[in-house]
Amino acid sequence: MPAHPPEMIDLRSDTVTQPTAAMRHAIANAEVGDDVLSGDPTTKRLEAVVAERLGKERALFFPTGTMANQAAIWLLTKPGTELLADEQSHIVEWEMAGTAALAGVQVLPVRSTRGAMRAADLQAAMRPASSSSAETSLVCVENTHNGAGGTVTTIDELRALRDVAQRASIPLHLDGARLWNASVATGTSLDTFASCADTVMVSFSKGLGAPAGALLAGPADLMARAVRVRRRFGGGMRQSGILAAGALYGVENHFDRLVEDHEAARYLANAINGAGGVTVVHPDTNIVMIDLPEANGRDMVARAKAHGVLISFWHDKRIRAVTHLNAPAHVAAEAAVRLRRAFES
Ligand SMILES: Cc1ncc(COP(=O)(O)O)c(C=O)c1O
Repeated sequence: MPAHPPEMIDLRSDTVTQPTAAMRHAIANAEVGDDVLSGDPTTKRLEAVVAERLGKERALFFPTGTMANQAAIWLLTKPGTELLADEQSHIVEWEMAGTAALAGVQVLPVRSTRGAMRAADLQAAMRPASSSSAETSLVCVENTHNGAGGTVTTIDELRALRDVAQRASIPLHLDGARLWNASVATGTSLDTFASCADTVMVSFSKGLGAPAGALLAGPADLMARAVRVRRRFGGGMRQSGILAAGALYGVENHFDRLVEDHEAARYLANAINGAGGVTVVHPDTNIVMIDLPEANGRDMVARAKAHGVLISFWHDKRIRAVTHLNAPAHVAAEAAVRLRRAFES
């Protein structure tokens, strides 16, 4: 018998999950050491396990995905150059102009024609080399793409993006905060996706349900430099195995179950589509973008809350619901009933 749905169902993000009892047990029992001095054994294990899954020589544990993204940008660019990234990407929208403030790099936002950046969009945005415009130093791709609605960039599309970057001899960084979801949704392995990128960031605090942490993977020489950059950014942690144990538990136990989040998102999307005139972006993975007939996003978020569902404001005409570990099928079904009522009220 599934537990009764909670009074308030929280679908603001897949980052709201609480560590399960088993994850807490793994965290409490983690073997730890000083990772700055001589290495933390659990962190090292996590780094080795995920580097192998991503098919990269070395991986480094970071406290957040933002810090790992910014470290990659710092490593792969130089001040006074520009990077190309989807205009709706996390790096452009949510990292506090870190590219400019930390790496001294300007962003050339790429306008995407189909939600997430495609090779043709990237190609169209590339500037020809010239003595009077900034040199392009990096291409960043986000997979899955949060702002577009958890959209998957398939391996063929990713290869096409890589080919555009490669023809111009520009490295590619993959923001794979939700690469786990892309892999489960398509059956493409993590290392196949990662083989298209010089560096890859993956996050543990989203679908995998860990309390915190991300990892940056890439070639050994670059990652040796990344250790120094991480320290400079304030990300050198001591008994980080406490966090790494949660992440490792997530990788080993919550990866395959992401399929359930995707099913719950599809169910939710179908059930609320049309209610009160809303239109859903049919989800590839666990993120449901809900487009509104009127520019009243904040009002609709408040109405949803009054009906017992927390969702997030995206912009005036778009709101977002995300399925996750703590919102299994019966909870998502109840959320759909409440959201329909809210949208129709
Ligand atoms: C696509 C994407 N990249 C990066 C991040 C940053 O991760 P963190 O919150 O750990 O800094 C997020 C967080 O939501 C994200 O959705």
